[in-house]
Amino acid sequence: MPSIMDSLRAKGRGIAEGLEARSRGLVGVFARLSKEHGEVSALLDRVRDEPAKRTDLWSKIRLDLLGHERAELETVYAELRTDTRGRELAELHDAEAAQLDALIRSVDGAAIDSETWLATFEQLAIAVTIHAEEEETELFPKAQDLLGKERAKSLDDAYVAAKKRAAKIIASPAE
Ligand SMILES: [Fe+2]
Repeated sequence: MPSIMDSLRAKGRGIAEGLEARSRGLVGVFARLSKEHGEVSALLDRVRDEPAKRTDLWSKIRLDLLGHERAELETVYAELRTDTRGRELAELHDAEAAQLDALIRSVDGAAIDSETWLATFEQLAIAVTIHAEEEETELFPKAQDLLGKERAKSLDDAYVAAKKRAAKIIASPAE
């Protein structure tokens, strides 16, 4: 399992991202999603710094990433799809989510102590960073404008519940 220090670092990064999201005017589910991006990027850094912890860190990262993407698709992007302008945002997001999913499968498919694993992991880490940046600076502000701040706040509970449900059905890498 990642150590308490790892969790604290991840939380610290998440809090910093959360504050940044609020400074951009993001609230509710959009502030939460931005905060989670910060938490996962701290874990991505830990993989580079602590090779001995790769297995445990990877199982946490993939669960976080898959749960986060599935829950946001089910709540935020599903709702955006009901509006013409929102549908464009959701479709843009679909393509990137599919790319992230494929990269997660590739990392899963490599031997965790191999060079291939690290190279594939780096590709994924870069894709996650670009995706998170794009969501926080472009997609989320536009989505929040469309849905309104009140809906952004009420979608937060739906997102948390969807993420919990997703965590129960996401298989571990070995399965
Ligand atoms: Fe996303």
